[in-house]
Amino acid sequence: MAERLVELRNISKSFGSICALRAVNVSLGSGEVVGLVGDNGAGKSTLVKILAGVVQPTSGDILVRGQSMTGWNSARSREAGIETVFQDRALAVQQSVVRNIFMGRELAGRFGWLKLGKEIREAERLMREIGFTSRLLSPHSVVGQLSGGERQGVAIARAIYNEAELIILDEPTAALSLVETAKVFRFVRQLKASGRSVLFIGHNVHHVYDIADRFIVLDRGRLMLEANRAELSSAEALIAFMEDVVRRAATLAPALAGAGRSQ
Ligand SMILES: Nc1ncnc2c1ncn2[C@@H]1O[C@H](COP(=O)(O)OP(=O)(O)OP(=O)(O)O)[C@@H](O)[C@H]1O
Ligand SMILES: [Mg+2]
Repeated sequence: MAERLVELRNISKSFGSICALRAVNVSLGSGEVVGLVGDNGAGKSTLVKILAGVVQPTSGDILVRGQSMTGWNSARSREAGIETVFQDRALAVQQSVVRNIFMGRELAGRFGWLKLGKEIREAERLMREIGFTSRLLSPHSVVGQLSGGERQGVAIARAIYNEAELIILDEPTAALSLVETAKVFRFVRQLKASGRSVLFIGHNVHHVYDIADRFIVLDRGRLMLEANRAELSSAEALIAFMEDVVRRAATLAPALAGAGRSQ
């Protein structure tokens, strides 16, 4: 693995009697795309929220570039260069692309005037950097009129503007068509090419297999597998592993394995 950017050591998280994560150890390196998969309720979003600093772990340590973090919260997470794109939620759909990229961090000139011209040039640069190719799109386009994949792109552009080194995408392709998914993949490849890291969460194991260099499998709060692409011959091998985990759990505790698997 590349140089360690972020490390979760022995992270556990309980919500009342529910144990969402159990002593999970995970490292994310620089310039790699890591795919995080697991069934509903596996703990994927909880892990993401802990990295984003919006949920506090019950126990365990968070390290950034080898340094143990204290007082971890969303501001600290951002300072550390971690940006999370929560699906659809973060964008103002009635506003333009440029407004969305700079929201809350507008460039201001003397006397507080916004430097709109500079923002537009910067937005164009960011859109080029992450691989927006549509000629119909400009910084002035209204986000509500963009496709799902393009909206993810705007959220990613904002993350880059915020100097993110690790960009977390929680189910970015869940509601997208194949064409739109391909757009998000292009953005992810651009992020990797620029040396940034991506944590990509997905339900569709084929999608995750196509885009990631390394894979993390969670099952009911436990880390079941951390493997490089070279160790898994295909998406089917990853799916077979996940099915095997479920089968073994079903043999041990049939009632437990049946819970939360209706989707
Ligand atoms: N705020 C919360 N309060 C209580 N329980 C929670 C909370 N957040 C998550 N959980 C529980 O923790 C477990 C893990 O949830 P989490 O959302 O992390 O799973 P996930 O892997 O993201 O699932 P999905 O694929 O459905 O998004 C689940 O049993 C869930 O019900
Ligand atoms: Mg989730």
